[in-house]
Amino acid sequence: MRVIVTGGAGYIGSHTVRELARAGWDVVVIDNLVYGHRAAIIDPEVTLLEGSLDDQKILDQAFSKPVDVVVHFAAYAYVGESVTEPLKYYQNNLAAPLTLLARMKAENCTRFVFSSTCATYGIPEEMPIVETLAQNPINPYGQSKLMLEKVLQDCETAWGLKSVFLRYFNAAGSSSDGKIGEDHNPETHLIPLVIAAGMGKRKDIKIFGSDYPTPDGTCVRDYIHVEDLASAHSKAITYLSDGGDTIAVNLGTGIPVSVNELIQTFEKVTGLKVPVQYTDRRPGDPPELLADPSRAKEVLGWQAVNSDISNILESAYRWFSQPHGGKYESNSPQKTTDVEK
Ligand code: UFG
Repeated sequence: MRVIVTGGAGYIGSHTVRELARAGWDVVVIDNLVYGHRAAIIDPEVTLLEGSLDDQKILDQAFSKPVDVVVHFAAYAYVGESVTEPLKYYQNNLAAPLTLLARMKAENCTRFVFSSTCATYGIPEEMPIVETLAQNPINPYGQSKLMLEKVLQDCETAWGLKSVFLRYFNAAGSSSDGKIGEDHNPETHLIPLVIAAGMGKRKDIKIFGSDYPTPDGTCVRDYIHVEDLASAHSKAITYLSDGGDTIAVNLGTGIPVSVNELIQTFEKVTGLKVPVQYTDRRPGDPPELLADPSRAKEVLGWQAVNSDISNILESAYRWFSQPHGGKYESNSPQKTTDVEK
């Protein structure tokens, strides 16, 4: 059974690749390594094709044997950058996958698991968020993900493609054995920056806004452990293999955690002190994002089991406190197939 994982050298992708390789899949990763890391793919039997989704030579290699399912992560995901460079986001997140989809159609490959996001909801009218709420993204990143959802629905109508749109809430944490984790460059996410501040690697953590209409005035999010996200992909593949129809599924816990609560929990778990500075709100941040994850349980039989916020913070801290400081080495035992350009 062969699965193509695009963006499999990225943060969530690499944890999912590991889960699929352990389950015995023949995993082929397509990743251009712009943000992904060769060393994040630690299973030597996984094949990495370094290149773009719209490169026919890469696709020729990926489809050199019959492919059962495609799991699609490859995307840019910096919300702020998407506002200043929208074309980059529409090109990479929307246009490039069209070539992959055309090849899937030609190869009669009709199962697709898609990394979507809670950013497709924009500022939701109700909380917690159910999948049927209106989707009104407030930035090109969320828009590009929503547009691909629409494309996938049209492909279902036209040629029977079946997709699961996994709408992630705030992905967080690192693998439980500390072997792979979060390494973004630049890093903008709360948890790695809190850890860096706690470890004295940066002066402080700036808390973006303390006047939100939330219990303590700071933003509330729904943090979901990256290994819980990985297991959801595996269950989505099973759902499609069992003949499931196209469906959107929220992946979160439904448990609210504010920025202040997260920092206090980190201090409690690690004994470190985190210097904080309250600053203005970050443009585009919704006050609160919380999933209603019941559909994931009903349809996929999935629920979060590692996403207690203390567990998330402990696993993230373990990754960042290793000698490599949460950064991947440049080398890996990974077998790479370089395609002549
Ligand atoms: N925050 C701070 N200080 C920081 C960084 C973040 O106070 O230095 C706050 C943010 O304002 C937000 C919370 O911490 O309230 C979480 O911020 P992150 O940047 O870690 O995550 P986001 O909620 O902004 O973004 C995540 C994903 C995006 C996705 C978005 C959907 O990373 O890919 O959720 O809203 F688009």
